Amino acid sequence: MSLWSRRRFFLTSLAGTAAAGTPSLLRASTPEDGSDADVFVPQSAPAKGKRPVMISSANGVHALQKGMDILKSGGDTLDAAVAAVTVVEDDPNDDSVGYGGLPNEEGEVELDASVMHGPTRRAGSVASVRRIKNVARLAKTVMERTNHTMIVGDGARRFAVAEGFEEMNLLTEHSRKIWLAWKASSSFNWRPGIDSPEWVSRSAAARKEDYAQHEVFQERLAMICDHDPALMARAMEVILDPPTGTINCLAVNDKGEISGTTTTSGLSWKISGRVGDSPIIGAGLYVDGDVGGAGSTGKGEENIKISGGHTIVEMMRKGMSPNDACLEALHRVARNYNNDKKKLGTFHVYFYALNKDGVHGSASLWRNGYDPNKRAKYAVHDGTEGKLVECAAYFDEIGGDQ
Ligand code: GLY
Repeated sequence: MSLWSRRRFFLTSLAGTAAAGTPSLLRASTPEDGSDADVFVPQSAPAKGKRPVMISSANGVHALQKGMDILKSGGDTLDAAVAAVTVVEDDPNDDSVGYGGLPNEEGEVELDASVMHGPTRRAGSVASVRRIKNVARLAKTVMERTNHTMIVGDGARRFAVAEGFEEMNLLTEHSRKIWLAWKASSSFNWRPGIDSPEWVSRSAAARKEDYAQHEVFQERLAMICDHDPALMARAMEVILDPPTGTINCLAVNDKGEISGTTTTSGLSWKISGRVGDSPIIGAGLYVDGDVGGAGSTGKGEENIKISGGHTIVEMMRKGMSPNDACLEALHRVARNYNNDKKKLGTFHVYFYALNKDGVHGSASLWRNGYDPNKRAKYAVHDGTEGKLVECAAYFDEIGGDQ
């Protein structure tokens, strides 16, 4: 299918309008023309949203109720967001966040997180933290109890212990076995990425076939996974497409106060010490109490290069709807590769945005999400129940020969 077009943009805008009560915007030039001087023209003033409201990446849909209970009882917006993501951090079955997250190449789970509190305009973050499960709360502790904004590595772990956080082994049996399978596959990150002229394209389908033909690897995979077909399938999935799953959560209360948090175990099999976008204030998260907040999940390297969170909030400040601001951020990601779908098809990026009026939106680089057979979605709780809503999409179909 063709690249996202001016007409399609208009349609996705309208779809977002239906979901979030936002105005649509028209793009004055299209990505196809190769121009980077795109201009967005607001067509109407933003509509009023509903408050209180919380949004998150889709993996938080079951956790938003916890935060909404806090908002409804008059609690703080950051307490609500952190309470929601803590449910996911504590879940050993979510292998992208907190306890049970897939580890780095050394088999160590390393977590990143950030928080921003709109009412007091404060921020805190931690990166490359080992052995501490609830890093969103740790980032909040950095914000509240130190003179710093960001603490990383072993210093962050020691700070956590000093502040009374429990130290524990974050690697579950499930994640340990998948890590061993990845090691047996001889995959590694020590090679140039898609932004390098040295990058060599090899599709996931071709790589899958290579592994299927490799008898020694197949035997080792079966042994590591105790011949469990579901575990073997999951191991192959994350070997071929290392996840960057994360949870971003934004909360606005009935007074229009807003806060947010982003927490992750980062890119699976990463080089030890690799930091993604989640703990970077302005990339994986940004909140301005006068405007709203934005966050991201997916390949952090791509978001860091466009400062997505800050970019989206600044566009909302100028009157853009949350949905359209997310799409414009994706436009900048795609532009960094001249819209080359072969390169872009090697990763996912999602953006999420909520303004202080309670209007929300989200956009995904691809219409289908991490599961290639399902539409990309995000979670919304508007005070009634948590539900999944379809994201606006930048491209219709995943590119290249992935
Ligand atoms: N977005 C999470 C990461 O790249 O680490």
